[in-house]
Amino acid sequence: MPLTQPRTNPAAMEIAAIRSLVSTDLAAVDALIRQRLHSEVVLVNQIGHYIINNGGKRLRPLLALLCAHACGYTGNKHIDIAAIIEFIHTATLIHDDIVDASELRRGKETANSLWGNEASVLVGDFLYSRAFEMMVEVGDIRVMAIMARATNIIAEGEVMQLLNCHDADTTEQRYLDVIHYKTAKLFEAAAQLGGILSRDDGAAAALSRYGMHLGTAFQLVDDILDYSATSEVIGKNIGDDLAEGKPTLPLIYALQHSPPQQASVLRHAIENGGRDDIAEVIATIESSGALAYTAQAAQREAQQAAGALHGLAASPYKDALFALTDYAVSRSY
Ligand code: IPE
Ligand code: IPE
Ligand code: MG
Ligand code: MG
Repeated sequence: MPLTQPRTNPAAMEIAAIRSLVSTDLAAVDALIRQRLHSEVVLVNQIGHYIINNGGKRLRPLLALLCAHACGYTGNKHIDIAAIIEFIHTATLIHDDIVDASELRRGKETANSLWGNEASVLVGDFLYSRAFEMMVEVGDIRVMAIMARATNIIAEGEVMQLLNCHDADTTEQRYLDVIHYKTAKLFEAAAQLGGILSRDDGAAAALSRYGMHLGTAFQLVDDILDYSATSEVIGKNIGDDLAEGKPTLPLIYALQHSPPQQASVLRHAIENGGRDDIAEVIATIESSGALAYTAQAAQREAQQAAGALHGLAASPYKDALFALTDYAVSRSY
C-alpha cells in the first residue's frame, strides 16, 4: 500500500528523475504560469498566486511535456499547453474545494477557507477563462477542440459526482464514469496533445488511451489515500470524501463485502455525511479488503496505460512515461 513517507519512497525519487528530463521546460512553464496569472484586480492576483505558490505536483504539465517530446516535437507550443492545463486543473481544484467543503489543500488552508466561497468561485472562473485566452493565442483549432471538450467533461463529472453524493446504492460503474470524467479526461488531453502538436495521429490516439488509464489509476489511488494517508503527507484532510457522503470505490466495495452490522454503519455514513463514524468506517474499509481491491483496480489501469505505449518510438521520454505508470500507483501523496 502507498503508505510510506515521500522522502523514503523510491517512487518519489523516480519522479525527480522523470522531472529532470524536462527541467528546462518545467521552469519555462512555471514562468509562464506566473506571468499569465497577472490581473489588475488585486484579489485575483492574491488568490491566484496563493494557490500557485503552494505548489502542487505539476503532474499534468509534466505529462504534456513528456508526451510532446516522446513524439519528437521540436516547437514551443508544448510550454503553453502545459501551462494552460495547469490553469484548468487549478481552477477545478478551487471549485472542487468549495463543493467538497475542504479546508486543506497542498498543505495550506484552501482559498474558500481564507477568502470564502464567493471570491473563490470567481477566481476559479478567472483561471478557466485565462486558460481559454491562452488557448486562442496558441492558434491551433485541434488543440482548442480537445481542451474545450476536456474542460466541459470535467464539469459534467463533478456534477455527476454531486448526484451520487449521499446515494449508498451508487454502483462501481457509476463511480468509474465519474472518475473518467472528472480526472482522467484532463490526463487524456494532456497526453494526447503531444501527438497532436507533432501531427502524429497514431501517437495521439495511443497517448490518449495512455492518459485515460493513467488518470483513472491516479484518481483510484487518490480515493485510497483519502482513507489511508495522513493529512501531513497528502496536504489534504483525510476523510473529506466521507464527510461529503461521497461513495468512492473503497466505500462501495466495503459496503458490499461487510457483515450487515458494519454495512449499515457505512450506509448511514454515506447517507448522512459528516465525520462522526470515521474511525469505524475506516476499520470496516480496512477489514473488508476494499483498499486492496481498489489498489488492484489502479494497478490494472496502470498496466493498461503502459500497454498503450508499445507502439511509440523508443526514447528516454517514453521510458519516463512508463515510469509514471508505476508512480501513479505507488505514490504516497
Ligand atoms: C488532485 O490532483 C485532484 C485529483 C484529481 C485527485 P493532484 O493530486 O494532481 O493535485 P496537485 O496539483 O498535486 O495539488
Ligand atoms: C478530484 O476529485 C477533483 C477534480 C478532478 C476536479 P477529489 O475531490 O477526489 O480531489 P481532492 O481529493 O479534493 O484533491
Ligand atoms: Mg475534493
Ligand atoms: Mg480526493
